[in-house]
Order: sequence, then C-alpha cells, then structure tokens
Amino acid sequence: MKVIVTYNVPSSAVPEDYACHEGVLDQVRDVTKALETLGHSYEVLGVGNDIRRELTYLADCDADVIFNLCESINGQSGLQPCFAGYLELLGIPFTGSDSAGITIAIDKRQTKAILQSRGINTPQAWLAASLLPLLDPAQEQALSGRVRLPVIVKPAREDGSIGITQQSVATTWNELRSAVQEAAQRFGAENVLVERYIEGREFYVGFLGNTRLQSLPVSEITFENLPSELKPIMSYDAKWDPDSPERRSFRRLCPAPLTPEEQVRVVEICEAAYKTVGLSGYGRIDVRLETTTGEFFVLDVNANPDITDGQGFPVTAAIAGLSYPELIETIIKHALEHDRNRS
Ligand SMILES: Nc1ncnc2c1ncn2[C@@H]1O[C@H](COP(=O)(O)OP(=O)(O)O)[C@@H](O)[C@H]1O
Ligand SMILES: [Mg+2]
Repeated sequence: MKVIVTYNVPSSAVPEDYACHEGVLDQVRDVTKALETLGHSYEVLGVGNDIRRELTYLADCDADVIFNLCESINGQSGLQPCFAGYLELLGIPFTGSDSAGITIAIDKRQTKAILQSRGINTPQAWLAASLLPLLDPAQEQALSGRVRLPVIVKPAREDGSIGITQQSVATTWNELRSAVQEAAQRFGAENVLVERYIEGREFYVGFLGNTRLQSLPVSEITFENLPSELKPIMSYDAKWDPDSPERRSFRRLCPAPLTPEEQVRVVEICEAAYKTVGLSGYGRIDVRLETTTGEFFVLDVNANPDITDGQGFPVTAAIAGLSYPELIETIIKHALEHDRNRS
C-alpha cells in the first residue's frame, strides 16, 4: 500500500506557540516509523510552503491513502477543514475526520452549541464580546447577575492549550476582567469564551472508528503535589514546558479509577459527543466530573488528536492491546472503510 503522510509545516508566526505547532513533526516521525514497520511504502508532504504546488502534487498522486496530520495551514487552524475538504473532492481516502467534523471541532462555540442542542452536558459559557459592556467595575452587579464564578477564559478557535494559563481561571471579578482583556487583545473578543470552571477530576476518552466505535480505556489526568496556589489544569505550560511545575506534577492514570457506573456514564457521554460533532477515524474527548454534582461535562472534542508515540492517545491504545503500529494500521483501515461509505 502507498501512503502519503501530509502535515502542516509548523508556523513560527507566534513564537510562544511554536512548541505546540512543532509537535506535528514528532507525529510525522512516529507515524512514518510505524509505516516502515508495517511494510507500507510512503512519502511525506509538508503543506504550507508552496500550497498550489503541494495541492497539485496530491491531485496527481497515486496514493492509496493519505495519512493526514495537517492541523492548520500556515498557522491558520481555520484552514484545516479546507485541506480535508480538498482531499474529499479528490476522492482519496484519508485518515481522521472529514471537513464537516473538523469545522465544528475546531470551534468551541459551535461544538458547544451542537452538544447543547442534543442535551449533552457541557459547561455554560458566554462569548467574551457579549460581556465586554459589563466589565466596567461599575457594572459588577449586572455582571454577577449573568456570570457565576469561578470561570475559565479560553480561546474558542485554538487547541493544544494555546492561550490557557493559570491566569485564565478567574475566581474574582478583577481576575475575570484582566483575563478577558488579555485574551480579547490576543484573539479578539468574538473568539474568546468565558466558561464555567468545573471543579473536579479530569478524564479523556479516545475512540477509534466511524459509525461503530471502539472506546479506548478511560484515562484520568492528575496533578500530584501541585503547589496549592496553582490550579489543576492542562495549561499550555502543562502540555509543552517540561520544566513547569504543572508538567512536573502531571500524571496519567489509565485505566482511570472510576466506579463501573461512572465508567459507563463517561464513555456514553463521550461517545455521544464524538458522534454528535461528526468525528471519524479517531478522536479524543476531554471531560470533567464535577465534584459537587457528580455530573460529567464535556470540555473539548478533539478531531485528529495528537498521536505521537508515548502521548495520551497511543498510550491508552496500548493498554487496550494495540501496539503503536497496530494503532496506525487501524486508523488507516478506518480511512479506507470510511471512504467506501461516503455518499
Ligand atoms: N470549563 C472548564 N473547567 C475546568 N477546567 C477546564 C475547563 N475548560 C478547560 N479546562 C482546562 O483547560 C485544559 C485545556 O482546555 P481545552 O478546552 O481542552 O482546550 P484545548 O483545545 O486547547 O485542549 C483542559 O484540559 C482543562 O484542564
Ligand atoms: Mg483539550
């Protein structure tokens, strides 16, 4: 079988986000190594240097399947679904989600709206732009009538925890004001969500498949011995800075210590989120279990999550009995099957 591995040439437009964008190169390294182990021939195509030439190359290629690791084009995550859509137009099978699923998953506002429309629990959120008139300290009463603290202020159209720091969690109105101002300045107030902060344990669930899904063992994220002034969140530093206190205290427990009843509920809500957003191939859902209510809340729906060997998704796949090359083969198998079923 001939495979073309496509990936986004990492953008250095925002230097502080480079560690996150650069992560795609680790995925390319690990996926190609697995393809070698599996005995497939492959080529690697970086997308973004000369987009017309690269798209023409794909239009004329004789690949059986594209292993699509493009997370953005020239640093613009909004172009990620366009690239998947181009592959759909060409009719070449490709791994991961379609343009439609990616379009919803890359936008937390849309994801939230569609989850809520199907009655799937996700924390209440407000668009920062709609709160701007209430941020004047004189409007504090009106603000407290709308928003309940604590909240987390996060960009709606980013992933990899870009823009998420300890200061994103606000427990006072002053903290909320400065978090919103900072995020709005960087991302634009239309692209920032102020979301109810869910106090409780955090989990993620990986899935493989298109319509009939295989759920991978639930993982819990814990922060052991985190300094008490820090919030247990997967901030940018927790994900990308090996020297940060959040990263050093970060642990992954898999399978997560949940009661059988909680286990059923978390897989149910995550599977519903995967299907509702319209993911295919493989995906990962991030959730929290609220301490006070015992309810699960979907925080984030990830199409084409990080599959670097040793990262969350492949680790849970390994616990389910899939070696890394077997995982890559399974993702390819779903790409080939999905293409046949596409109308
Ligand atoms: N509503 C929330 N309540 C509590 N923690 C949250 C909430 N939203 C995000 N977080 C924390 O921030 C992390 C990153 O947020 P997430 O929405 O998953 O963004 P990204 O798409 O960048 O991964 C989560 O893993 C979680 O630790
Ligand atoms: Mg996330």
